Amino acid sequence: MSRPTVLVTGANRGIGLEFSRQYLADGWCVIATLRDPANAGDLDALDGPGELVIEPLDVTDHDQIDGLAARHAGQPIDVLLNNAGIIGPVPIPEHIEQQHFGSMDYLLWDRVLWTNTFAPLKMAEAFVEHVAASDQKKIVALSSTVGSLVERDTAAFAYATSKTALNKAMRLLASVLKERGISVGIFCPGYVQTRMDFGTAEVKPEDSVKGLRGLIADLELADSGTFQRYNGETVAW
Ligand SMILES: NC(=O)c1ccc[n+]([C@@H]2O[C@H](COP(=O)([O-])OP(=O)(O)OC[C@H]3O[C@@H](n4cnc5c(N)ncnc54)[C@H](OP(=O)(O)O)[C@@H]3O)[C@@H](O)[C@H]2O)c1
Repeated sequence: MSRPTVLVTGANRGIGLEFSRQYLADGWCVIATLRDPANAGDLDALDGPGELVIEPLDVTDHDQIDGLAARHAGQPIDVLLNNAGIIGPVPIPEHIEQQHFGSMDYLLWDRVLWTNTFAPLKMAEAFVEHVAASDQKKIVALSSTVGSLVERDTAAFAYATSKTALNKAMRLLASVLKERGISVGIFCPGYVQTRMDFGTAEVKPEDSVKGLRGLIADLELADSGTFQRYNGETVAW
Protein backbone atom coordinates (compact mmCIF):
# COMPACT_ATOMS: atom_id res chain seq x y z
CA MET A 1 0.00 0.00 0.00
CA SER A 2 1.36 3.48 -0.87
CA ARG A 3 2.11 5.99 1.87
CA PRO A 4 -0.43 8.72 2.65
CA THR A 5 0.63 12.21 1.51
CA VAL A 6 0.31 15.56 3.27
CA LEU A 7 1.11 18.94 1.75
CA VAL A 8 2.11 21.52 4.38
CA THR A 9 2.43 25.26 3.68
CA GLY A 10 4.87 27.34 5.75
CA ALA A 11 6.84 24.22 6.67
CA ASN A 12 10.16 25.87 7.53
CA ARG A 13 9.38 26.90 11.11
CA GLY A 14 6.91 26.76 13.97
CA ILE A 15 3.82 24.60 13.69
CA GLY A 16 4.39 23.78 10.00
CA LEU A 17 7.87 22.41 10.72
CA GLU A 18 6.50 20.31 13.57
CA PHE A 19 3.70 18.92 11.36
CA SER A 20 6.35 17.95 8.79
CA ARG A 21 8.52 16.31 11.45
CA GLN A 22 5.67 14.25 12.94
CA TYR A 23 4.13 13.12 9.64
CA LEU A 24 7.59 12.16 8.35
CA ALA A 25 8.30 10.19 11.53
CA ASP A 26 4.98 8.42 10.98
CA GLY A 27 6.01 7.27 7.49
CA TRP A 28 4.00 9.77 5.42
CA CYS A 29 5.10 11.44 2.20
CA VAL A 30 5.42 15.10 3.20
CA ILE A 31 5.37 17.80 0.53
CA ALA A 32 6.83 20.58 2.66
CA THR A 33 6.50 24.02 1.10
CA LEU A 34 8.24 27.23 2.09
CA ARG A 35 8.46 30.65 0.53
CA ASP A 36 12.22 31.07 0.77
CA PRO A 37 14.33 27.92 0.19
CA ALA A 38 17.40 29.87 1.39
CA ASN A 39 15.62 30.15 4.75
CA ALA A 40 14.75 26.46 5.20
CA GLY A 41 15.83 26.40 8.86
CA ASP A 42 15.58 22.92 10.33
CA LEU A 43 13.41 21.60 7.49
CA ASP A 44 16.36 20.38 5.41
CA ALA A 45 17.62 18.30 8.32
CA LEU A 46 14.35 16.43 8.95
CA ASP A 47 14.69 12.70 8.73
CA GLY A 48 12.32 9.78 9.17
CA PRO A 49 10.87 6.68 7.60
CA GLY A 50 8.62 8.79 5.36
CA GLU A 51 9.51 10.71 2.23
CA LEU A 52 10.30 14.44 2.29
CA VAL A 53 9.76 16.58 -0.80
CA ILE A 54 10.64 20.27 -0.35
CA GLU A 55 9.01 22.76 -2.70
CA PRO A 56 9.20 26.57 -2.91
CA LEU A 57 5.82 28.28 -2.48
CA ASP A 58 4.76 31.78 -1.54
CA VAL A 59 1.08 31.25 -0.81
CA THR A 60 0.18 34.79 -1.93
CA ASP A 61 1.48 34.04 -5.45
CA HIS A 62 -1.36 32.32 -7.30
CA ASP A 63 0.82 31.49 -10.31
CA GLN A 64 3.21 29.64 -7.98
CA ILE A 65 0.27 27.74 -6.47
CA ASP A 66 -1.01 26.71 -9.92
CA GLY A 67 2.53 25.76 -10.96
CA LEU A 68 3.00 23.53 -7.93
CA ALA A 69 -0.37 21.86 -8.51
CA ALA A 70 0.58 21.21 -12.14
CA ARG A 71 3.98 19.75 -11.15
CA HIS A 72 2.18 17.29 -8.86
CA ALA A 73 -0.68 16.56 -11.27
CA GLY A 74 -1.96 13.03 -10.77
CA GLN A 75 -0.49 12.72 -7.27
CA PRO A 76 -3.14 12.02 -4.61
CA ILE A 77 -2.86 14.32 -1.57
CA ASP A 78 -4.63 12.92 1.50
CA VAL A 79 -4.31 16.05 3.65
CA LEU A 80 -3.93 19.56 2.25
CA LEU A 81 -2.69 21.43 5.29
CA ASN A 82 -3.03 25.21 5.07
CA ASN A 83 -0.71 26.25 7.87
CA ALA A 84 1.15 29.35 6.56
CA GLY A 85 -0.05 32.53 8.20
CA ILE A 86 1.02 35.93 9.44
CA ILE A 87 -0.09 38.38 12.07
CA GLY A 88 2.00 41.10 10.44
CA PRO A 89 5.63 42.19 10.25
CA VAL A 90 8.04 40.69 12.78
CA PRO A 91 8.96 41.24 15.52
CA ILE A 92 5.21 41.31 16.04
CA PRO A 93 5.06 43.42 19.27
CA GLU A 94 6.98 46.23 17.56
CA HIS A 95 4.49 46.42 14.68
CA ILE A 96 1.15 45.53 16.24
CA GLU A 97 0.18 49.24 16.38
CA GLN A 98 -0.25 49.02 12.60
CA GLN A 99 -3.45 47.08 13.19
CA HIS A 100 -4.83 49.03 16.12
CA PHE A 101 -7.70 51.49 15.79
CA GLY A 102 -6.35 54.95 14.97
CA SER A 103 -3.13 53.72 13.35
CA MET A 104 -4.40 51.11 10.88
CA ASP A 105 -2.16 50.21 7.96
CA TYR A 106 -4.63 49.15 5.28
CA LEU A 107 -1.99 47.78 2.92
CA LEU A 108 -0.85 45.51 5.74
CA TRP A 109 -4.45 44.38 6.24
CA ASP A 110 -4.58 43.52 2.53
CA ARG A 111 -1.37 41.43 2.84
CA VAL A 112 -2.73 39.60 5.89
CA LEU A 113 -5.93 38.76 4.00
CA TRP A 114 -3.98 37.51 0.96
CA THR A 115 -1.96 35.23 3.24
CA ASN A 116 -4.44 34.02 5.84
CA THR A 117 -7.75 34.08 3.96
CA PHE A 118 -7.30 34.03 0.19
CA ALA A 119 -4.40 31.53 0.10
CA PRO A 120 -6.19 28.57 1.77
CA LEU A 121 -9.12 28.92 -0.66
CA LYS A 122 -6.82 29.29 -3.66
CA MET A 123 -4.88 26.21 -2.48
CA ALA A 124 -8.17 24.29 -2.28
CA GLU A 125 -9.11 25.38 -5.80
CA ALA A 126 -5.71 24.36 -7.18
CA PHE A 127 -5.42 21.03 -5.33
CA VAL A 128 -9.02 19.81 -5.17
CA GLU A 129 -8.42 17.06 -7.75
CA HIS A 130 -5.30 15.86 -5.89
CA VAL A 131 -7.32 15.64 -2.67
CA ALA A 132 -10.34 14.03 -4.38
CA ALA A 133 -8.03 11.32 -5.80
CA SER A 134 -6.68 10.38 -2.34
CA ASP A 135 -7.90 7.87 0.24
CA GLN A 136 -8.44 10.34 3.11
CA LYS A 137 -9.71 13.43 1.22
CA LYS A 138 -9.10 16.16 3.81
CA ILE A 139 -8.49 19.90 3.62
CA VAL A 140 -7.33 21.58 6.82
CA ALA A 141 -6.92 25.25 7.76
CA LEU A 142 -5.14 26.58 10.83
CA SER A 143 -7.29 29.34 12.22
CA SER A 144 -7.36 31.08 15.60
CA THR A 145 -9.86 31.70 18.36
CA VAL A 146 -8.92 35.37 17.81
CA GLY A 147 -11.23 35.09 14.77
CA SER A 148 -14.22 33.97 16.86
CA LEU A 149 -17.03 36.52 17.21
CA VAL A 150 -17.85 35.25 20.69
CA GLU A 151 -14.67 33.90 22.31
CA ARG A 152 -12.23 36.78 22.14
CA ASP A 153 -11.84 40.48 21.43
CA THR A 154 -8.18 40.84 20.56
CA ALA A 155 -7.98 44.24 18.85
CA ALA A 156 -5.56 43.19 16.11
CA PHE A 157 -8.00 44.15 13.35
CA ALA A 158 -6.12 42.65 10.39
CA TYR A 159 -5.23 39.28 11.93
CA ALA A 160 -8.54 38.77 13.75
CA THR A 161 -10.73 39.56 10.74
CA SER A 162 -8.56 37.45 8.42
CA LYS A 163 -9.25 34.39 10.58
CA THR A 164 -12.98 35.19 10.90
CA ALA A 165 -13.22 35.34 7.11
CA LEU A 166 -11.08 32.20 6.80
CA ASN A 167 -13.53 30.32 9.02
CA LYS A 168 -16.51 31.36 6.90
CA ALA A 169 -14.66 30.53 3.67
CA MET A 170 -13.77 27.07 5.00
CA ARG A 171 -17.33 26.51 6.19
CA LEU A 172 -18.62 27.33 2.70
CA LEU A 173 -15.90 25.12 1.20
CA ALA A 174 -17.07 22.24 3.41
CA SER A 175 -20.58 22.47 2.01
CA VAL A 176 -19.36 22.82 -1.60
CA LEU A 177 -17.04 19.78 -1.34
CA LYS A 178 -19.29 17.47 0.68
CA GLU A 179 -20.72 15.81 -2.42
CA ARG A 180 -17.15 14.92 -3.50
CA GLY A 181 -16.50 13.23 -0.15
CA ILE A 182 -13.92 15.85 0.91
CA SER A 183 -13.87 16.89 4.60
CA VAL A 184 -12.73 20.34 5.71
CA GLY A 185 -11.31 20.86 9.21
CA ILE A 186 -10.79 24.25 10.87
CA PHE A 187 -8.45 24.12 13.86
CA CYS A 188 -6.94 26.46 16.44
CA PRO A 189 -3.52 25.20 17.55
CA GLY A 190 -3.71 26.93 20.96
CA TYR A 191 -1.29 29.67 21.99
CA VAL A 192 1.90 28.02 20.81
CA GLN A 193 5.61 28.79 21.34
CA THR A 194 6.52 29.95 17.83
CA ARG A 195 7.52 33.24 16.23
CA MET A 196 3.88 34.30 16.81
CA ASP A 197 4.34 34.02 20.55
CA PHE A 198 4.27 37.38 22.37
CA GLY A 199 6.36 35.76 25.13
CA THR A 200 3.56 34.15 27.13
CA ALA A 201 2.60 31.09 25.06
CA GLU A 202 2.35 27.89 27.08
CA VAL A 203 1.75 25.23 24.45
CA LYS A 204 4.75 23.50 22.89
CA PRO A 205 4.60 22.92 19.12
CA GLU A 206 4.99 19.15 19.59
CA ASP A 207 1.97 18.98 21.93
CA SER A 208 -0.20 21.19 19.74
CA VAL A 209 0.64 19.20 16.60
CA LYS A 210 0.16 15.86 18.37
CA GLY A 211 -3.36 16.95 19.29
CA LEU A 212 -4.08 18.38 15.85
CA ARG A 213 -2.84 15.26 14.06
CA GLY A 214 -5.22 13.16 16.14
CA LEU A 215 -8.12 15.46 15.24
CA ILE A 216 -7.16 15.40 11.55
CA ALA A 217 -6.99 11.59 11.65
CA ASP A 218 -10.47 11.48 13.18
CA LEU A 219 -11.97 14.12 10.85
CA GLU A 220 -14.99 12.75 9.00
CA LEU A 221 -17.46 14.16 6.52
CA ALA A 222 -20.01 14.52 9.33
CA ASP A 223 -17.66 17.00 11.15
CA SER A 224 -16.76 18.93 8.01
CA GLY A 225 -16.75 22.70 8.55
CA THR A 226 -16.47 22.54 12.35
CA PHE A 227 -13.93 24.61 14.31
CA GLN A 228 -11.98 22.82 17.05
CA ARG A 229 -9.13 23.61 19.40
CA TYR A 230 -6.06 21.33 19.32
CA ASN A 231 -7.31 19.60 22.49
CA GLY A 232 -10.61 18.64 20.84
CA GLU A 233 -12.82 21.35 22.36
CA THR A 234 -15.33 22.91 19.97
CA VAL A 235 -14.68 26.62 19.47
CA ALA A 236 -17.78 28.80 19.62
CA TRP A 237 -17.63 31.34 16.82
N1 LIG B 1 1.43 30.28 17.40
C1 LIG B 1 0.21 30.49 17.82
O1 LIG B 1 -0.02 30.75 19.02
C2 LIG B 1 -0.97 30.43 16.88
C3 LIG B 1 -2.26 30.60 17.43
C4 LIG B 1 -3.36 30.53 16.59
C5 LIG B 1 -3.19 30.27 15.23
N2 LIG B 1 -1.91 30.10 14.74
C6 LIG B 1 -1.80 29.83 13.29
O2 LIG B 1 -0.93 28.73 13.07
C7 LIG B 1 -0.29 28.87 11.79
C8 LIG B 1 1.22 28.66 11.93
O3 LIG B 1 1.73 29.70 12.75
P1 LIG B 1 3.07 29.59 13.62
O4 LIG B 1 2.68 29.83 15.03
O5 LIG B 1 3.82 28.38 13.27
O6 LIG B 1 3.82 30.92 13.11
P2 LIG B 1 5.28 31.18 12.56
O7 LIG B 1 6.29 30.54 13.43
O8 LIG B 1 5.35 32.66 12.35
O9 LIG B 1 5.29 30.43 11.15
C9 LIG B 1 4.49 30.91 10.10
C10 LIG B 1 4.87 30.18 8.83
O10 LIG B 1 4.07 30.71 7.75
C11 LIG B 1 4.96 31.05 6.70
N3 LIG B 1 4.44 32.09 5.81
C12 LIG B 1 4.05 33.34 6.12
N4 LIG B 1 3.68 34.00 5.00
C13 LIG B 1 3.87 33.14 3.96
C14 LIG B 1 3.70 33.21 2.57
N5 LIG B 1 3.26 34.34 1.97
N6 LIG B 1 3.96 32.13 1.81
C15 LIG B 1 4.41 30.98 2.39
N7 LIG B 1 4.63 30.85 3.70
C16 LIG B 1 4.35 31.92 4.48
C17 LIG B 1 6.23 31.50 7.38
O11 LIG B 1 7.31 31.54 6.47
P3 LIG B 1 8.61 32.52 6.70
O12 LIG B 1 9.50 31.80 7.67
O13 LIG B 1 9.18 32.65 5.32
O14 LIG B 1 8.09 33.82 7.24
C18 LIG B 1 6.35 30.42 8.44
O15 LIG B 1 6.86 29.24 7.87
C19 LIG B 1 -0.68 30.27 11.27
O16 LIG B 1 -1.73 30.15 10.33
C20 LIG B 1 -1.16 30.98 12.51
O17 LIG B 1 -2.07 32.02 12.24
C21 LIG B 1 -0.80 30.18 15.52
